[in-house]
This record gives sequence, structure tokens and C-alpha cells, in this order.
Amino acid sequence: MIRVELKGRDLIEYVCDEDTKRESLNVIGCAELMQLIQRYQENGQPVAQWELPMGKSHSEVLVRELISKVRGVWNFPYPHDELCHCRAVQTETVDQAIIAGAHTASAISRVTSASTACGNCRFDIEAILQYRLQDGCQIHKTN
Ligand code: FES
Ligand SMILES: [Zn+2]
Repeated sequence: MIRVELKGRDLIEYVCDEDTKRESLNVIGCAELMQLIQRYQENGQPVAQWELPMGKSHSEVLVRELISKVRGVWNFPYPHDELCHCRAVQTETVDQAIIAGAHTASAISRVTSASTACGNCRFDIEAILQYRLQDGCQIHKTN
């Protein structure tokens, strides 16, 4: 199962049956996310064929993650659980803040307190930002 979420707000669960290739999506979230998913579903295409949404809204960022994961091209740039060692901030905390709308390193520092001491983790924060908002939009279809 593939699970994509903005914790406490939006959740997308995706399952594809190996034999029948039948996909099922379970979506719980705000009207914006539901409408975005519904527009894709009206086309009747499998998720791997959905066009990547290019925007920066939390819904588009989440759907981009979903499509990339279904295509098998999700390539998150930072592999460790803890991102900021001075402040003991988890990578997931930073990533969730980005999804929720913190779109600059200083906004992320403000809401998570990451990168407010030695600053060595700033580069990794920038890399995640760049992947979530820019590079992640460049992925091409795998088939
Ligand atoms: S590792 Fe993040 S401020 Fe030092
Ligand atoms: Zn939402």
C-alpha cells in the first residue's frame, strides 16, 4: 500500500491488486483534495498515467507524491530520520511543514525550529524544498 498524507488533515491510500491490476484509492481530506482527485478519476486513467500537477498547494504536492510513488520514481533527497541534529527535528516534521505551506527555509525554521543553531542542516532543508516544489515536477512517465 502507498500512503501519502498531511497528518491530521489529508490522507490518500493507494492499493493495486497484483493479479487483476485493479487500483483502489481511499481519500480522506479537504474539499480541495477531494476535487483534485475527482477530476483525475473522471478521466478514468490509471494513477501512473495521471499528469503531474504542477502547483504548490498542499493537495497538488500530495498528489504529485502519490503519482511519483505509483510510477516508482519517488526519489526523496534526504534518507535519514533526523534532519536537524542541533534541534532534534525529524525529517518528517520538516517535510510535513513544506506540504502544509512553509515554502522557504526561513518559514520552515520558524515553524519547526530546524536550522536555528549551527545551520549545517540548511542545505538538506533546501534540497527537500527543491524536490517537493520544483524537481519533483520534472519526473517523466515511466511508461
Ligand atoms: S543541524 Fe540544524 S541547526 Fe545544527
Ligand atoms: Zn487538504
